[in-house]
Amino acid sequence: MTREQRTQVAIIGAGPAGLILARLLALEGIHSIVIERRDRAYVEHRLRAGVLEQTTVDLLRAAGVGGRMDREGLVHEGLYLQFDGVRHRIDLRELTGGRAITVYGQHEVVKDLIAARLAAGDEIVFEASDVRLCDVDADLPAIRFKVDGKERTVHCDFVAGCDGFHGVCRPAIPPGALHTYERTYPFAWLGILAQTPPSLDELIYAHHERGFALHSMRSPQLTRLYVQCDPDDSLDAWPDARVWEELHLRLSTRDGWQLREGPVVEKSITQMRSFVVEPMQYGRLFLAGDAAHVVPPTGAKGLNLAAADVKVLAEALVDWYRSGRTALLDAYSATCLRRVWRVEHFSWWMTTMLHRAPGDDAFDHRLQLAQLRYVTGSRAASTSLAENYVGLEHV
Ligand code: APR
Ligand code: PHB
Repeated sequence: MTREQRTQVAIIGAGPAGLILARLLALEGIHSIVIERRDRAYVEHRLRAGVLEQTTVDLLRAAGVGGRMDREGLVHEGLYLQFDGVRHRIDLRELTGGRAITVYGQHEVVKDLIAARLAAGDEIVFEASDVRLCDVDADLPAIRFKVDGKERTVHCDFVAGCDGFHGVCRPAIPPGALHTYERTYPFAWLGILAQTPPSLDELIYAHHERGFALHSMRSPQLTRLYVQCDPDDSLDAWPDARVWEELHLRLSTRDGWQLREGPVVEKSITQMRSFVVEPMQYGRLFLAGDAAHVVPPTGAKGLNLAAADVKVLAEALVDWYRSGRTALLDAYSATCLRRVWRVEHFSWWMTTMLHRAPGDDAFDHRLQLAQLRYVTGSRAASTSLAENYVGLEHV
């Protein structure tokens, strides 16, 4: 027999988008059920980016889930752009009137949100399979799925499609109702997590003729590093020794600075793509986060963009439940897409300035260096990078 449930908002996906939305709604007394395909341990340990914009930090704090982030997150007031073997610091705080970023792993944010939700007695259905959306263009949509081999149905007023790029929500919209805009890049990132203290206390984005490299971190004991690789590379092509060799070459400076090595505890390849669908709504289905748009990781905007979407969505839903007004819901897509395209541009711009594409010649290389010199040498240009990097204010 099918178990039937009723909620106000059915949220598909327990990534940052779905969990932040669930939290914002709960604080306003709106009932939701989060439906997630994976198990709890999987979503709590999935390694993703780890840079929180000031705006995201403020949102998590205001939602009452910033305690551990404030204790354990690393506040960074600047970052380095490196080219020609020389590092140039961008003083984020000084250039943005006191704003900064916080380095705190996305999976830690996810852990904090899950703990807060379960402590409040609200539901997350893990390991839901065969998730199907029904009647999203009618007044009472339903989500059908299986858990432990048993059918369940959740009836709801609204569906929030927070199930990432490979989810089922976006494909549930008739293709004729959506426009997609896409760019795939001819390179990827090979990322490692190394058990060693960071070699510098801030991030380094390095331009190098052998390709891009990034020095980041997760904690005072864990370093996160990336090297640009070929999108067709497999991990077999990248034994640890080769990864370290490339990192040393690309991150080295002329002043003798040394990159610390340590045991590699995780290694993976991330493909790079820009992707946007318009509109981000169909009937009573609202897409948020990676379900609606993807950015390349240069600039670390994915989680932050997801947080910005669900803030807009939560406010619109709250207004509908309070007043019956549809204006904010009707404006959801257009409101989000303004920020989405700004961030798409910033991520594309950082990516093209820092990577070496196959077929790039000396002309391309010199253009990149000219741009890097300008960004690091002009206060106006570095302010532009800084304000985008720490995140533009939420609308
Ligand atoms: N049914 C239920 N859940 C699903 C389904 C499905 N059919 N398909 C995917 N999911 C779940 C995934 O397992 C994942 O937990 O939806 C969640 C989507 O989470 P994310 O991919 O983290 O996407 P989002 O919440 O939008 O966060 C954006 O995450 O992907 C990174 O780089 C991205 O940092 C960005 C952030
Ligand atoms: C990370 O720490 O994983 C990270 C940092 C900055 C980026 C992307 C990823 O731009």
